[in-house]
Amino acid sequence: MRISVFGLGYVGCVSAACLCESGHEVWGIDVDESKVKFLLDGKSPIVETELPELIAKHRAAGRLNATTSIDKAVKATDMALVCVGTPSLPSGALNTEYARRVCEQIGAALKNLNRDFTVVIRSTLLPGTTRRELLPRLEQFSGKAEGAGFHIAYNPEFLREGTAVADFFAPPKTVVGAERETTAKRVSDLYAGLPGAFHLTRIEEAELVKYADNVFHAIKVVFGNEVGAIAKSVGVDSHRVMDVFCTDTKLNLSPTI
Ligand SMILES: NC(=O)c1ccc[n+]([C@@H]2O[C@H](COP(=O)([O-])OP(=O)(O)OC[C@H]3O[C@@H](n4cnc5c(N)ncnc54)[C@H](O)[C@@H]3O)[C@@H](O)[C@H]2O)c1
Repeated sequence: MRISVFGLGYVGCVSAACLCESGHEVWGIDVDESKVKFLLDGKSPIVETELPELIAKHRAAGRLNATTSIDKAVKATDMALVCVGTPSLPSGALNTEYARRVCEQIGAALKNLNRDFTVVIRSTLLPGTTRRELLPRLEQFSGKAEGAGFHIAYNPEFLREGTAVADFFAPPKTVVGAERETTAKRVSDLYAGLPGAFHLTRIEEAELVKYADNVFHAIKVVFGNEVGAIAKSVGVDSHRVMDVFCTDTKLNLSPTI
């Protein structure tokens, strides 16, 4: 497939390089010219195991390209992965400014494109953001309706920094939120042959799955630290306690409540 990846941060760089390794042709796009130059020079803009080798290999093979031009990237591809940042605001709310802006730009590029195009949102967003804030901008700037000229899907990313490349090729699961099965199928083709269960959901469900995952991981850290503090205060080996605790996959690490 021919894919454009918007945002060459952690998620975008890993996705771009790993999709090349899976045999796809990728264009990386960023507003930051230095990140684009890194990719064009066959170098990684981020520090991550295995990533420099993958970027160098696929840049040399001509499978990986980069540009600051949204128009050029959209014209050269059939699917866009939106991986721009969604940092927290001082109020705690999510800053969706970059995601909104990039959808306006992709929408404008879609205006004169006379073929099907799929926009896949990968940035972490609160449930309802894709439908309420991003889809209307794609429709407004392209002058087209979703399903008639372009398609939208939400596909959360579950990578861990440090083991991101390994996680890409062995995901715990793949989740695609889409309105139509044909759209979900197109997105799932990106990950053909990779292990882990595939889940087709509504867009809002996929958005919330990502938050449920993040929050649960935070709970695990807090829980482990609390057990550690108690263990220390009574002179018990906390690692031994947690090792035993984690072997119980019937009541502890399980769907049982
Ligand atoms: N880093 C992680 O471990 C991780 C894991 C899962 C999900 N996520 C989510 O994925 C998203 C991206 O995270 P990240 O860590 O890669 O972010 P990041 O801040 O490292 O990178 C975002 C990139 O987007 C670029 N950008 C901003 N506006 C743009 C535009 N209009 N066009 C093109 N590029 C633009 C920025 O210049 C930057 O390089 C966030 O929503 C984050 O919450 C991150």
